Amino acid sequence: MNVLATLRPPGDAWDELGDIEVGPLAPRDDVEILIVANEPVDLDWFPALGLIANFSVGYDRIDIEACRRRGVAVSNTPGVLDAAVADLTIGLLLAVRRRIVEGDAAVRAGRWEKGWSASPFLGREVSGSVLGIVGYGRIGKAVAQRAAGFDLEVIHTRETPLDELLTRADVVSLHTPLNAETTGLISRERLALMRDGASLLNTARGAVVDEDALVDVLESGRISAGLDVFVHEPHVPERLRGLPNVVLTPHIASATDETRAAMTRIVVDNVLAFERGEPLVTPVA
Ligand code: 8YV
Repeated sequence: MNVLATLRPPGDAWDELGDIEVGPLAPRDDVEILIVANEPVDLDWFPALGLIANFSVGYDRIDIEACRRRGVAVSNTPGVLDAAVADLTIGLLLAVRRRIVEGDAAVRAGRWEKGWSASPFLGREVSGSVLGIVGYGRIGKAVAQRAAGFDLEVIHTRETPLDELLTRADVVSLHTPLNAETTGLISRERLALMRDGASLLNTARGAVVDEDALVDVLESGRISAGLDVFVHEPHVPERLRGLPNVVLTPHIASATDETRAAMTRIVVDNVLAFERGEPLVTPVA
């Protein structure tokens, strides 16, 4: 079958697809399978399309309803990236609460002049603090498991209403998919519920948070944040980039050799299953 991929993901499994075309999306009447990384697909461009194999667990930018109507199957890559995303979440938590990146910048800039006793880099104790997990699916649970090792008290939205969680947590971590219900979920009003000195972590999707409102509250210095995702990636608001109380990473939560190779394995397995006329391994639609 004719396959077009917008990326060549890492991992040996890719070679099982043979010599497939890698290039940008453009109108094509011969393409039957698309491999994308959560990129929007204009179905009118691909009349022969049967499968979108998404190199991503999140499929918020793919119009699933339109795919269903057209009989286009969609697959994603669930499960294999839970550990990597949870690890980065804990990395952001530690970096933000203990001001690791700020300290690193100060050392590099030669601003560590007065010796350790006068160090201004007081952070917040991680051990014993409350972690509020918003979205208690596979990734949220993997974060909770790790948090237990740091003696964090975990609360989550399966048991605690969101507004209550926001008022109680020292650290709020987002792990919901982006959909109609979660777009703007962490609104200006909800950000205002967060405790003074609390931290927001986002490794889910930028649009789960009102980004303008978040920048405002971060500028006020009332809370801090660790952000791996943004509303208009790769654009990161200029105002965020100048703030010391924010750790910014370029959407790398699943970005390890091992995890990306495992994601490729799932993409390839879905493509091969589709080509054989077998059920998809990880269907979304
Ligand atoms: C990817 C992701 O970095 O799986 C997801 O939902 O956001 C990440 O794993 C991204 O989709 C690019 O492949």
